[in-house]
Amino acid sequence: MNEDTTTTTHPYVGLWVTPDGRIRHELRADGRYVEARGDREAAYVGRYEVSGDHVEYVDDTGFTADGGFRDDVLHHAGMVLHRRKVVLVTGASSGIGRATALRLAAAGHPVVLGARRTDRLDTLVAEIEVAGGQALAVPLDVTDAASARQFAEAALARFGRIDVLVANAGVMPLSPLAAGLVEEWDRMIDVNVRGLLHSIAATLPTMLAQGTGHVVTIASVGAFEVSPTAAVYCGTKYAARAITEGLRQESPRSVRVTTVSPGVTDSELASTITDASAAAAMVAYRADSVPADAIARAVAYAVDERPDVDVNEVVVRPVGQR
Ligand SMILES: NC(=O)c1ccc[n+]([C@@H]2O[C@H](COP(=O)([O-])OP(=O)(O)OC[C@H]3O[C@@H](n4cnc5c(N)ncnc54)[C@H](OP(=O)(O)O)[C@@H]3O)[C@@H](O)[C@H]2O)c1
Repeated sequence: MNEDTTTTTHPYVGLWVTPDGRIRHELRADGRYVEARGDREAAYVGRYEVSGDHVEYVDDTGFTADGGFRDDVLHHAGMVLHRRKVVLVTGASSGIGRATALRLAAAGHPVVLGARRTDRLDTLVAEIEVAGGQALAVPLDVTDAASARQFAEAALARFGRIDVLVANAGVMPLSPLAAGLVEEWDRMIDVNVRGLLHSIAATLPTMLAQGTGHVVTIASVGAFEVSPTAAVYCGTKYAARAITEGLRQESPRSVRVTTVSPGVTDSELASTITDASAAAAMVAYRADSVPADAIARAVAYAVDERPDVDVNEVVVRPVGQR
């Protein structure tokens, strides 16, 4: 066992909770293994050492155990350990992006947060760090290809890798076509389609060079069906899904590709609507919703699957949504 690992970032993370919620096992970023029972925190503390595909464990009671890794995942004493991944989230300042960043950071993945409202990103970084996670805030406007490149470069400069892109940034100023709100149509195309392409262009070369990577696009149920006032928005989401499926077909086995399509989800998305008729229609449509963390859980499921398992399409709706 190497005693001097407190300052290094451990390459594996894990969390396992018994079905009754009473016992919680956690492998932390510094390599410490912590078990908590009920109200008692850290009943005992141990340390994992990972060397190649071999893992060794010892705790403060002197108990030792060892095991082996296959691929990126170890099933050890009922706990699933995942390789720590550097995750880039576009549109992390609110809603689904924020929830995804919080969930993946809590699971031990370093997260790189991009959006235009950097004050919000700074607050989120502080929240993640207080909870023991790692996060970096980077100003990002996905409509600008250079900004997307700088986002990826900042991630590489801080963490040295890009394992996952969560292409989430999006806007939804709905209106009927007859309203002729051309600037809003252009903005949806710029953020939801060009922004996705800029984000892929900025990160895919690194994933291909690393020989591993994962692109997760947040599309929508609007990528499967069209409704009045949503012609352009749905057009951008059909495009996002098509682009992501094309990427999946073109990618080597080492790059996984996922489309997560939310139904109505709590977020600030509807606040971009300026057309009065579309805003009124949204009140009833959005009455039943899922929390943003429900979508974050779907992203986490795809990210933490074994490397030989490619979760391609996930649709998550509130139970009442038709
Ligand atoms: N909520 C739903 O019901 C729902 C349903 C289906 C799909 N979706 C999709 O989920 C994704 C996330 O939306 P949300 O629901 O979480 O809404 P949200 O709370 O409004 O979040 C949208 C995010 O996108 C970012 N963004 C917008 N324009 C950007 C730009 N030019 N560059 C970088 N970031 C930009 C925003 O950050 P800044 O403004 O700070 O830049 C914000 O962080 C979107 O793609 C949306 O279409 C949502």
